Amino acid sequence: MSTRQQQHKIGSGFGASSTADDVLDGIGLQGRTALVTGGYSGLGLEITRALSRAGAHVIVPARRPATAREALRGVPRVEVRPLDLADLSSIRQFTDQLVDRHHRKLDILINNAGVMACPETRVGPDGTWEAHFAINHLGHFALTNLLYPALSSAEAARVVSVASSGHFLSDIRWADPHFVRDGYDRWLAYAQSKTANALFAVHLNSLRDTAGTGPRAFAVHPGSILTPLQRHIPRDEQIAQGWMTPDGTPAPGFKTPAQGAATAVWAATSPLLDAHGGAYCQDCDIAEPATTEDMLIGGVKPWATAPEAAARLWQLSAELTGLGTHAA
Ligand SMILES: NC(=O)c1ccc[n+]([C@@H]2O[C@H](COP(=O)([O-])OP(=O)(O)OC[C@H]3O[C@@H](n4cnc5c(N)ncnc54)[C@H](OP(=O)(O)O)[C@@H]3O)[C@@H](O)[C@H]2O)c1
Repeated sequence: MSTRQQQHKIGSGFGASSTADDVLDGIGLQGRTALVTGGYSGLGLEITRALSRAGAHVIVPARRPATAREALRGVPRVEVRPLDLADLSSIRQFTDQLVDRHHRKLDILINNAGVMACPETRVGPDGTWEAHFAINHLGHFALTNLLYPALSSAEAARVVSVASSGHFLSDIRWADPHFVRDGYDRWLAYAQSKTANALFAVHLNSLRDTAGTGPRAFAVHPGSILTPLQRHIPRDEQIAQGWMTPDGTPAPGFKTPAQGAATAVWAATSPLLDAHGGAYCQDCDIAEPATTEDMLIGGVKPWATAPEAAARLWQLSAELTGLGTHAA
């Protein structure tokens, strides 16, 4: 069992207003391969653009490949391949091509794709998995486990889980992760999946601590950014929540997509984090423990960094997906 990562700022010199290009200034990624799930919309698009500008080859899995190719038109060194994170067979097909057939090594994996506050949706092998837990967490769990050989072939690979301060609202619902018993709640479903993203990084990183090889892993809260993620929230509700003014201007404290992409890119590349694997980051630094319920201020709740819970979630995810058991 790994020990709990110290959640204290280390002073990166960057902050909430830094952009992905700012944090990559002076960092060359020529010869490196990155994979960014959801890398054709919102934050993912900015992450892909920035990594490409720094010289990386970027693989962008897409459940809508034509849309992805259109969004990424003109971005050099980008490769779009079909993938639906809600479908284990699609994930297997994707990784079979990449790892088994082409023997690719992977330096950076950014597990960024996600859905938020959608109406109750059931997916998975027998159609019983709650969609947030399945897409945001289990799909990335399966993808990362199947890509583990490619990540282990790279010299100092990193995996970044794009979590959220949305995790404030829910621990893992151990007795009812799929909302069968208690009734569905779209915000608790999103929150649970984001706690899962954070815990996933904790346990994945502990595998490296144990084995001495494998990727370092980090979780990040990108900030609050208006993107297509809010597609299921009516505009009136977004205004009532204080996310935007009636004319559509983002509220104070919101970031631009380029700023929202910065922490993920920083966690994927900063040498300052070499000794801090497993950390939960925000605003281009390690996040402090949360002292408020204000998600705009952020920080990290204790249930999102607990190694015992991370190991238990790994075991549950391995049982559900049939993957990752070797590493539990
Ligand atoms: N925006 C914020 O304020 C904010 C705050 C905290 C955390 N985050 C996190 O940041 C990440 C990126 O969000 P965003 O704001 O950039 O949202 P976005 O613009 O909606 O991007 C999400 C991406 O995920 C993809 N995706 C969704 N379901 C998928 C599936 N089943 N298989 C494969 N790809 C799938 C989407 O593809 P399609 O377009 O084809 O559906 C899209 O490319 C998410 O994990 C989110 O939870 C965002």
